[in-house]
Amino acid sequence: MRHFLTLKDFTKDELLEMIALAQKIKAQTKQKKFVPYMERQTLGMIFEKSSTRTRVSFETGIYQLGGIGLFLSANDIQLGRGEPMKDTSRVISRMVDMVMIRTFEQSKLEEFATYSKVPVINGLTDSYHPVQLMTDYLTMIEFGKEKNPVVAYVGDGNNMTHSWLMLAAKLGFELRVATPKGYECNPAIVADALEIAKESGAKISFGHDPREAVKGCDIVTTDTWVSMGQEDEKEIRLKVFDGYMVDEAMMSLAKPDAIFLHCLPAYRGYEVSEETFEKHAEVIFTEAENRLHAQKGIMVWLDQHRG
Ligand code: CP
Ligand code: NVA
Repeated sequence: MRHFLTLKDFTKDELLEMIALAQKIKAQTKQKKFVPYMERQTLGMIFEKSSTRTRVSFETGIYQLGGIGLFLSANDIQLGRGEPMKDTSRVISRMVDMVMIRTFEQSKLEEFATYSKVPVINGLTDSYHPVQLMTDYLTMIEFGKEKNPVVAYVGDGNNMTHSWLMLAAKLGFELRVATPKGYECNPAIVADALEIAKESGAKISFGHDPREAVKGCDIVTTDTWVSMGQEDEKEIRLKVFDGYMVDEAMMSLAKPDAIFLHCLPAYRGYEVSEETFEKHAEVIFTEAENRLHAQKGIMVWLDQHRG
């Protein structure tokens, strides 16, 4: 049995298998052909943080695969009142067929997975957002940007950046990360990604100049400057990130046909200008829709790889 906790745990071929499944199931869904890949299965969905896309896409996705999703907000289950993660895991995983969790520390997700009888999917932690990056890769393919792309990530060295590092390292493309000083990626995750990159040939670089990073690239991406759980740091972060907004001046340094990706929610006037966001809205909202399709590929792959 496999869990989907970080992209690090999968080979390039495995990740591409999940993407291929996602593409196949997306095509079937578009033809209104609902194949019950996961008939009568239940997906437990535990949320310790807010969500729009993750909740709607997993709940709709499992239903379209012939199963049902259970929305379990930490505010409503005993986890929120202090029931240990390992007990929550031992109870829920005896009743459902798969679990998705959105939580804070990666270690909490890992603890749940250790005690779980069923596959566990990372629906975002402070460290990673792997389902989003599978989605972003599917979107890159659909917009013809998957062949040796140069990707520039501009902004906070956060869970999204860490997952971009892993995707680039696994698949072997060029990723340039530009963050303000003091807001760089986690050094341990960087070290892992650079080690994996040696094998795949990925070119990963880090700096503090967003314009330098964006120069001549195929894809520009960013994320909120204030992630969930960092609300207390908002005031200082908004000052530190001044100059990191992706706007038309910054986009003009990328290739003329460069696309802009954003996992959403987007904060206009901060990490992206209103003009740039709206100019790239078709790609951004295809990316959002692709959460549904990419995660079906992941769920079906995990279901097919049970021990
Ligand atoms: N991108 C993303 O994970 O969105 P939600 O927080 O709305 O789930
Ligand atoms: N980095 C953001 C991503 C939201 C989808 C956060 O963790 O809040």
